[in-house]
Amino acid sequence: MMIDSNSKDTVTFLLDGVEVTAKCDESLWEIAKRQGTLIPHLCHKDALGYRADGNCRACMVEIEGERVLAASCIRTPSEGMVVNTQSPRPVSARKMVIEILMADQPEKSTAHDQSSHFWDMAAMQDISVSRFPSMEQQRVPLLDASHLAMSVNLDACIHCNLCVRACREVQVNDVIGMSGRGHDAKITFDFDDPMGSSTCVACGECVQACPTGALMPATLLDAVGVGDSKSFDREVKSVCSYCGVGCQLSFKVKDEKIAWVDGIDGPSNESRLCVKGRFGFDYIAHPHRLTKPLIRRDDAPAKGLNVDPANPFTHFREASWEEALDFAAKGMSRLRDDTGKRVAGFGSAKCSNEEAYLFQKLIRQGFGHNNVDHCTRLCHASSVAALLENVGGGGVTATFNEIENADVAIVIGANPTENHPVAATYFKQFAKRGGKLIIMDPRGQGLKRHSSHMLQFRPGTDVAMLNAIMHVIVEEELYDKQYIAGFTENWEAMKEHLTGFPPSKMSELCGIDEATLRDVARTFAGARAGMIFWGMGVSQHIHGTDNSRCLISLALMTGQIGRSGTGLHPLRGQNNVQGASDAGLIPMFLPDYQSVADDGVRSAFNEIWGGDIIDREKGLTVVEIMDAIHADEIRGMYILGENPAMSDPDADHARDALAKLEHLVVQDIFLTETANYADVILPSSAWPEKTGTVTNTNRQVQMGRPAVAPPGEAKEDWWITVELARRLGLDWSYTHPSQVFAEMKLSMKSFDNITWERLEKEAVTYPSLSPEDPGQPILFADGYPRPDGRARFTPANVTAPAEVPDEQYPMILTTGRQLEHWHTGSMTRRAAVLDWAEPEANASMHPKTLRRLGIEPGSIMKVETRRGAINIMARADRAVSEDMIFVPFAYVEASANILTNPKLDPVGKIPEFKFAACRVSATSADRAVEPAA
Ligand code: SF4
Ligand code: SF4
Ligand code: FES
Repeated sequence: MMIDSNSKDTVTFLLDGVEVTAKCDESLWEIAKRQGTLIPHLCHKDALGYRADGNCRACMVEIEGERVLAASCIRTPSEGMVVNTQSPRPVSARKMVIEILMADQPEKSTAHDQSSHFWDMAAMQDISVSRFPSMEQQRVPLLDASHLAMSVNLDACIHCNLCVRACREVQVNDVIGMSGRGHDAKITFDFDDPMGSSTCVACGECVQACPTGALMPATLLDAVGVGDSKSFDREVKSVCSYCGVGCQLSFKVKDEKIAWVDGIDGPSNESRLCVKGRFGFDYIAHPHRLTKPLIRRDDAPAKGLNVDPANPFTHFREASWEEALDFAAKGMSRLRDDTGKRVAGFGSAKCSNEEAYLFQKLIRQGFGHNNVDHCTRLCHASSVAALLENVGGGGVTATFNEIENADVAIVIGANPTENHPVAATYFKQFAKRGGKLIIMDPRGQGLKRHSSHMLQFRPGTDVAMLNAIMHVIVEEELYDKQYIAGFTENWEAMKEHLTGFPPSKMSELCGIDEATLRDVARTFAGARAGMIFWGMGVSQHIHGTDNSRCLISLALMTGQIGRSGTGLHPLRGQNNVQGASDAGLIPMFLPDYQSVADDGVRSAFNEIWGGDIIDREKGLTVVEIMDAIHADEIRGMYILGENPAMSDPDADHARDALAKLEHLVVQDIFLTETANYADVILPSSAWPEKTGTVTNTNRQVQMGRPAVAPPGEAKEDWWITVELARRLGLDWSYTHPSQVFAEMKLSMKSFDNITWERLEKEAVTYPSLSPEDPGQPILFADGYPRPDGRARFTPANVTAPAEVPDEQYPMILTTGRQLEHWHTGSMTRRAAVLDWAEPEANASMHPKTLRRLGIEPGSIMKVETRRGAINIMARADRAVSEDMIFVPFAYVEASANILTNPKLDPVGKIPEFKFAACRVSATSADRAVEPAA
């Protein structure tokens, strides 16, 4: 770090006899470290987000003229100060601290962590035994093994408080505190509960912070509680494979298994992880992993959801790769040659950018049409449609970390504490610093207690509420006239349109009182810098595009875009849904959202790919493909890593479609519900077994690296796609993902200045303006990639949900995810800790509603819609409105999508997962199940 010695924010002083210039607010500890002196430290963690606390006194230094020693981790320098770190007094004081603490530690040979930071600090000061008496045996705290993932061994606790800061200040979960006094002081979870029954969300931050092994990943300890955090064979730095936050992590590999995971300093996570990223990777070693290609047996029972993933041989037989690939390709080429455009493809937002690119290329080049899509259709297609339409780009306009520079933030239709937990830590920190967090959600949620405003509006009334807020902004002239004049179009029409949405009228519709709507309008419009975040509560409606249009208009009219601390951020779901969309895994766009209908675009791609095969007609989307199968227009499919039998709305309709296919090729790591219907299954590699790049919700492109080899004969997805392409007659010769990345760069301007070699070293946010630029966190400072550089106001009208409650189906069904389970549960339900934390299919309702319906929490209830019925365990949750039920969609035994409505948003073609009319009743069933029709 360069320090400007002339700045008034710097001081010059003597450190160990050397003149040093440093910033006034730096600690002596940091300055000494920069100068090459590591001062021992225990309660201070040299990591982003950790405040020095100065409580352990392991870091004492001597300051000339001062009577007592100073704790260097919290002491800042002053002009002319003379500091000695190596003089006899501080050296012996520091040793004394270690000796005193060591007296109460388990011996190193039986330590919970034999390589803990504490033992490193002791060794650094040549201390291996203590002269002090140890704690009386009866006072030594007992092991708390109540949590499956983490072991609490307070006999090693030194009360450094790091876990408290980790939990309270870094992750803002507020579970751990110190209780008791003096000799009786101790670390406490909630009200002195065992960790496993506390409100701990298992982010593992405290474990990562603990310097002694008092808190340890349980997998690191042997039967008698002895462990060693350096006992691994290798460390592989990669990215988490779950959500769009894209946390960087380090896999610790021992005996060719992932032994545990640590968070590392990535741009979106600064070493934090959530329970899935930290404890959710053992699914890759689950016995259900597919290890050999499988071909459906000639004598297999009729296609249905009827295969046991533990024993697929009732329906499938093992095959060699050669045979399986030939079989897969022949089936598809027969349909192509006999019937034209009758093979469609679903690619995966869980795979790499390179794999997504190859997949869409294979469908487009191999079959001559654009019937290729992926799960973006089920999450943010409407958000992307509205963003492309109105600001000219489909990605976020600012990274979520920009909330650091905001003073107001709206979070609408998103539940980050469960779905983007590490992003949520930044939101909670923002609120703690005094930022105003405005939560808008029909369901109460984890961020509510951090919010300045909680607008629990009626489901499906987003447009009414947002238009009312914008009406106030117009009425009270709170809009940014200069910004509107300089950077937007269609303002007069928007203004005129909004006159029809006075809060007095909209309040009745959306259920939020007029005063609150006005207050929110004033708060957001009056903010120095405001951001808007949204999730699938906004996008998964038949009016999802309109909902997003309103949010875009709100940002534009207040000028809350294009600057630090401002912007629009749809929180993307899957780890690589941004990258897969960018790579063209969508039916209307080639890579980088270049329209298939544009002659120039097609000819540019034809030139890169060779030939002139790219079709000008937009392809079918996810739900449309299922309908086309029923209409006999699609007869074969290639599905990579998607699970439409669970994730599509009206799942029975989707399952019937899959059963009807003449040829279904499924490429996956498990025999998913979709693979039940396959004719051939190609075993592929999980994310920690492959090389490739991914792009997170922040537009940050990051490198994934293989930690372990795929099991058995399983192969990387890109390899399988290439082999299929060859058998379909394509002249593909890729032998490494880096070659695919190089080809992508030929057509994707978003990758300008980003190279494979660069990504090997660092994450890069696109756009990156030069080979040195780490990338632009904020877009559109100087205008928009639209005609005249102007963003557009697109007025939106109130549209009722496709199916409103009535006498027969009086309640509202909404669906979503839970913290521990990812999407259709194929990975997380096979991860021991995640399954332990949330083992049973459950749905949440308000306790009053449960009482009214005579349903006991914990008992099984029946939920029905016009599409079907499920039996599922009832959970009481005051956050859910009294007329609603929330059903997570991860549970196959009670699949939420049996119930959901497949009606689509006309623009984004996204189904209305967030709203269906349903009825709920008590049942005598004793387990969650889809009851026979
Ligand atoms: S694991 Fe996370 S939530 Fe649980 S106590 Fe530790 S820091 Fe707090
Ligand atoms: S927040 Fe998302 S990316 Fe980060 S560890 Fe959790 S699931 Fe993984
Ligand atoms: S490390 Fe400075 S007081 Fe603990």
